[in-house]
Amino acid sequence: MAAEEQVRESLEQVIVPGVMRSLNGLNLVRQVTTSDQEVKITLASSALNAETQEWIRSKTKAVVEKLHEVNKVEVEFIEAKPTELTQIGHIIAVMSGKGGVGKSLVASLAAIALKRQGYEVGILDADLTGASIPKMFGIIARPTGSDTGILPVLSRSGIELMSINLLLQQEDDAVIWRGPLISNTIKQFWEDVLWGKLDYLIIDLPPGTADAPLTVLQSFPISGVIIVFTPQDLTAMIVRKAVNMAQKMDKPVLGVVENMSYLYIPEIDKRIELFGRSRGEEMAEAARAPLLGQLPLDPELAKLCDQGDIERYDSEITNSLGQSLLQAISAKV
Ligand SMILES: Nc1ncnc2c1ncn2[C@@H]1O[C@H](COP(=O)(O)OP(=O)(O)O)[C@@H](O)[C@H]1O
Ligand SMILES: [Mg+2]
Repeated sequence: MAAEEQVRESLEQVIVPGVMRSLNGLNLVRQVTTSDQEVKITLASSALNAETQEWIRSKTKAVVEKLHEVNKVEVEFIEAKPTELTQIGHIIAVMSGKGGVGKSLVASLAAIALKRQGYEVGILDADLTGASIPKMFGIIARPTGSDTGILPVLSRSGIELMSINLLLQQEDDAVIWRGPLISNTIKQFWEDVLWGKLDYLIIDLPPGTADAPLTVLQSFPISGVIIVFTPQDLTAMIVRKAVNMAQKMDKPVLGVVENMSYLYIPEIDKRIELFGRSRGEEMAEAARAPLLGQLPLDPELAKLCDQGDIERYDSEITNSLGQSLLQAISAKV
């Protein structure tokens, strides 16, 4: 008879429709027992509608029946809450003192960098009124689910995404919601989304230091925050405010990222500090955290964001952002 381990491994071949991750990746396999007569597999039914469950049942049977010395396969579904199945190594929130500084961009590039390192990564777009993650990744697919939960959508490079924009009828529907509705939606993004097994979940926080980002910091077991700013931020005050908020919530600041730090002109091999002198070191000092990166204002990057092709951005800067983030996490968390 096939060993339990062998059966579990074979379930890597059963890809859940909609999200396109395996049963193992979504942590849906609850129990595997093998005896002389049969293999019995218990799966969680969370976020799977009846049709999907049937499809998974027959696919699972087909895969396991192919194993050596397996005669009979029994697949049973049990109910479980998505939060019982979600297992995330580190949740990292990206915040900024104000909007339009490139917070979503940094959240996306950080996720892309970690994914390229071979980690399983997700992005939660918690900026409900300025949701821009799906657009940058060119995602229009709608998440699927059932009464018991909702499945994230997978980006082209395999990053799990969840955003209010994926749930709205039209991408440009305005979200004019009041505080309680926003905080409930954000809580649902944690409680009802089946994230499964991830090494990192990056949260794109709403800008500023008001109620909305606070709710997120309170609702999620966050490991640490990254603070994004631009050289246009006139004082270190705006960064300090964000640092204070993180500290009040007992969340370590993993580092700061300066965006639109400079413009590089290849023809003359020169960096132009368009928005004034870089304040990277100063802000890092204010945050008592490392400067994780200084991103140039890059027309190519802006174009890729507009086209929904951010995952095609290939730059040494993204890789080094990923490296310094990993270092910061191991140093602080
Ligand atoms: N370093 C950069 N180079 C080129 N374009 C950028 C850069 N940073 C931001 N942008 C552009 O500015 C827009 C706003 O950035 P975004 O990350 O959505 O800001 P925020 O989330 O802080 O509101 C994006 O559409 C992006 O295309
Ligand atoms: Mg944004």
